Amino acid sequence: MPTKTEKHLYPTHIDIPESTREQLVELLNKSLATTLDLYSQLKQAHWNIKGPNFYQLHLLFDDSASAIFEFIDLIAERITTISGIAHGTVRNSASGSILPEYPSLPLSEQEHLKAVTERLAAYAKHVREGIEKADNLEEPTTADLYTEISRAVDTKLWFIEAHLQH
Ligand SMILES: [Fe+2]
Repeated sequence: MPTKTEKHLYPTHIDIPESTREQLVELLNKSLATTLDLYSQLKQAHWNIKGPNFYQLHLLFDDSASAIFEFIDLIAERITTISGIAHGTVRNSASGSILPEYPSLPLSEQEHLKAVTERLAAYAKHVREGIEKADNLEEPTTADLYTEISRAVDTKLWFIEAHLQH
């Protein structure tokens, strides 16, 4: 159940009904927590990768982390734009993320690729569900934000997963 703070909305002149904004803020805070978590897990892979393809994968994981980093601000500021409160601390992320913790280290190259693929795929699914939920709430601007993220995440998933497809 969301706490009082999570449900708090500031007065606003924006023409989106309050009940819609409440549901969007809850959804977007779940995405914010998950995006922060995914970013830190991609950095975990970037820092700890070892093996014959070290340099290529080290750069690839960082490239994905940088792309995900951009979404943190996008999502948090959509929350505050619609007069909600963005819950974006590391502790909020740890308690609100839909992702499992990154597997225990050390891991092989293949295990890192599998872990990153699974997390990007779970995030891509969450984001695609966000498009549908925002559509159902008749809020095309938030649906568009999720669509923008979805297109980029699907591409990142392809770049990582291609290493496992042979
Ligand atoms: Fe780095």
